[in-house]
Amino acid sequence: MMRIYELPDYDSMSRRAANIISAHVLLRPSCTLGLATGSTPLGIYRQLIRQYEAGDLSLEETRCVNLDEYLGLGPTHPQSYRYFMQKNFFDHININPENTHVPDGLCPDADAECARYNQVIKSLGGVDLQLLGLGHNGHIGFNEPGRSFELGTHLVDLSESTINANTRFFKSSAQVPHQALTMGIKNIMEAKQILVVVSGADKADIVRRAFAGPVSPDVPCSILQMHRDVILVGDTAALSELRKANVSIGS
Ligand code: F6R
Repeated sequence: MMRIYELPDYDSMSRRAANIISAHVLLRPSCTLGLATGSTPLGIYRQLIRQYEAGDLSLEETRCVNLDEYLGLGPTHPQSYRYFMQKNFFDHININPENTHVPDGLCPDADAECARYNQVIKSLGGVDLQLLGLGHNGHIGFNEPGRSFELGTHLVDLSESTINANTRFFKSSAQVPHQALTMGIKNIMEAKQILVVVSGADKADIVRRAFAGPVSPDVPCSILQMHRDVILVGDTAALSELRKANVSIGS
């Protein structure tokens, strides 16, 4: 089943997605949230912080597992996803630090770290609600086109285009990570519910291919059509192509 919410702009999209997340937490405070980095969720994290500050939300018992991390970057590196989560979310709410999980980019043995991370997810009883952004090429997490749908958490070689796109965030290209640890499609599909967030006209094409095109490893996010409980929250610009594909969209 898929429910689609169309909101007029980024702020209202972020508010709607934040409300879906906080509804989960209010109904079951000890739930496990799967979280993402990237630019799309920033507004959601801001809204959740606001709800916490207003006394409307507590994350004291909530557990979080993030999708991915660069190999070689530690928590104090400003480009690490652990750093991103601390600065943009965890440092501003009442979550127990022990309940926040991000793959360890400084692990000495990537395979062991991937196995440990799968075990963490399992020990939390699986992910109740997984937040996802969509890459322009259809990636989810660091699951790039053409990879197997069968994988759990694994080590990926970043594509040349991802490395080039990331170079602007680093002092020199030699410092840009070439590998990352990511939950696999298998982990993502095992989440009980999935919340996909998209914003902007530049996402319109991939949103249509994800939800109204053929399911194929060439478009990793297209596998979400096979999940039984997906909520897509997007702004009008991001949903403009999907709307032409005759799908039912709510407001
Ligand atoms: C983030 C992640 C990525 C992003 C995707 C979209 O943890 O795994 O797959 O969700 O690249 O990024 P934005 O939101 O910046 O367009």
